Amino acid sequence: METLSLIYYSPTKTTQKIVREIGQNMGLKLISENNIAENKIESMPKAANNCLTIIGMPVYAGRLPITAIDRLKKIQSNQSPVVIVVVYGNRDYDDSLLELNEIASNCGFKVIAGAAFIGEHSYSTNEKPIAKNRPDQQDLEKCRDFARMITEKLKDINSRSELNIPGNYPYKERKQLPATIHPETDNDRCNQCGICVDSCPANAITIQETVITNGELCTLCCACVKYCPDEARTLDTPIVNTIRENLFLNCSIRKEPEYFI
Ligand SMILES: Cc1cc2nc3c(=O)[nH]c(=O)nc-3n(C[C@H](O)[C@H](O)[C@H](O)COP(=O)(O)O)c2cc1C
Repeated sequence: METLSLIYYSPTKTTQKIVREIGQNMGLKLISENNIAENKIESMPKAANNCLTIIGMPVYAGRLPITAIDRLKKIQSNQSPVVIVVVYGNRDYDDSLLELNEIASNCGFKVIAGAAFIGEHSYSTNEKPIAKNRPDQQDLEKCRDFARMITEKLKDINSRSELNIPGNYPYKERKQLPATIHPETDNDRCNQCGICVDSCPANAITIQETVITNGELCTLCCACVKYCPDEARTLDTPIVNTIRENLFLNCSIRKEPEYFI
């Protein structure tokens, strides 16, 4: 194994940070990197032979984001090895790693290792921090540990050790908030710079007279909130504030990364 390919869906870039840290410590030559939340390309790369792929996905309501799955399913592999990684906001990753295992296998990958890491929750605010600033230095050290374990495993790739990936079938039912709930723009602050439009993985934002958000398309990823340079975008509705408050109160005990290898 000589080369490496990174594929991840990362609207608020915590998954990107973790996948990159693992990848950079593998001692392999990086031949491609795709954030499929950004790339609105129709055809996905075909996984090269003799290339290790790392796939990283955030956890949404204990599952994988539908937008991410639709894009991921277009990738094809011919039994090349893959490491699957989910990133969650310190609540739980439920069935998401099992779901990623199934999707990667259906794409034709051979899953050799999996992990669940923790990233700052998309709904975290300064007032109600949830896994604030994660992945932090401790997490990145764990990424490097995981990279070392994968390197060892690659030396004997044909050993058929069973991966005990946690999760249940049928998968946890998807929960979706009503389309009326989405980030709003404070027009007094907004400069119409378009950063929100570019950061949205679902193409849900357009600029007409003002910034318009299509609630049917919005996945509530909060990239537009995080990257707005004028702090004009907020997700501040009673339902989301209740969820945020519950996460802040109930998910404050630090969880640690887990490996399945
Ligand atoms: C719609 C939505 C649902 C989420 N559901 C969960 C969840 O079930 N469990 C959890 O721990 N974190 C959850 N999170 C937090 C994300 O998994 C976490 O913030 C992740 O680091 C985001 O990845 P990214 O920075 O690569 O976009 C959710 C975030 C969003 C936007």
